Amino acid sequence: MRVLGIETSCDETSAAVVEDKLESLVILSQDVHRVFGGVVPEIASRAHLTAVVPVVRQAVADAAIGMRDIDAIAVTHGPGLVGALLVGVSFAKGLAASLDVPLIGVHHMEGHLFATELQNPDATPPFTALLVSGGHTLLLDVPAWGEYQLLGATRDDAAGEAFDKVAKLLGLPYPGGRHVEAMAAACDAPRHRFARPMLHGGQQPGDPDYYDFSFSGLKTAVLIAVRAAEADGTIDAQRASIARGFQDALVDSLAAKTVRGAEAHGRQRIVLGGGVACNGALQERIAALAVRQLGAGARVHAPGPRLATDNAAMIARAGLFRLGRGERSGWDLNAYATLAIPGAVARGSAAA
Ligand code: KG4
Ligand code: ZN
Repeated sequence: MRVLGIETSCDETSAAVVEDKLESLVILSQDVHRVFGGVVPEIASRAHLTAVVPVVRQAVADAAIGMRDIDAIAVTHGPGLVGALLVGVSFAKGLAASLDVPLIGVHHMEGHLFATELQNPDATPPFTALLVSGGHTLLLDVPAWGEYQLLGATRDDAAGEAFDKVAKLLGLPYPGGRHVEAMAAACDAPRHRFARPMLHGGQQPGDPDYYDFSFSGLKTAVLIAVRAAEADGTIDAQRASIARGFQDALVDSLAAKTVRGAEAHGRQRIVLGGGVACNGALQERIAALAVRQLGAGARVHAPGPRLATDNAAMIARAGLFRLGRGERSGWDLNAYATLAIPGAVARGSAAA
């Protein structure tokens, strides 16, 4: 089945064609938001409206097929900016109706879960998944596609959001994750050490904070360090150390809890997803800890930058899975700012 994927949940207009493998992928990033230091929802919706038709046409052309060769359409219908999502959902409905092909609504985070598998066929369940994006931080146990046990989540800021806010404090452009990573890489011996959020030796499985994350306190600690350095006129000399100290603390917290999750569920495989998953320090830390705690057979799979950040290929791939199970969305498919992952069960419940 040849699936056209469409993604418009935030500030990327993207379309892709996936069959047995990825046939084409077009991503148009809305540069305009840089001027405002963050995504402006109304501007995002308008930009999607302008871009969606040419982006879809290009993805179809790049796959060397015609519109009539599309067998089904998968579209992100949540979570995300509701006005932005509506552009993709409305367009997908219109196109599916005119081509007379099935339509499937895809959960954006389920898409991120499938992204790595497009590059690496080994990134299949069972595995422990860490999804770290600008809007979400989720730790999941995945015994099979479609069965997701939610182990932990952030209680405040998402990991990517923390990177973006710290980037702003350090005077770096938006989105700031990769800029903070580059700045941190310039520091070998950080003078700043921040507390690892929600991570201490006394935690036991079953404790409410055993798998959860929190990054707003870390962000405040960075703010205090920046203000102190500004006050004594040393900020230019200290930025790289602050960036490194922040990244080390965030990465330690994410890595420790991810490997805890894998160990507790007997998983040898860890799959990362979302924009922060392309952070090299995060990948290295998780890989090192996984080998130490899970054994030499442990494997950590992360998507490359193009598939880690928002894209329609992962939506088409997740849609292909759902369509293969006989699932279809009706013409009443709607867009949602918040949405539960289909097949997800809360921590402590038996996976369905
Ligand atoms: O998954 P994504 O493209 O969008 C959402 O669904 O939110 O993730 C975007 C986030 C941004 O916060 C960005 O700063 C972060 O991913 N990011 C990174 C890196 N590259 C992107 N964070 C840390 N290190 C990176 N190399
Ligand atoms: Zn995303």
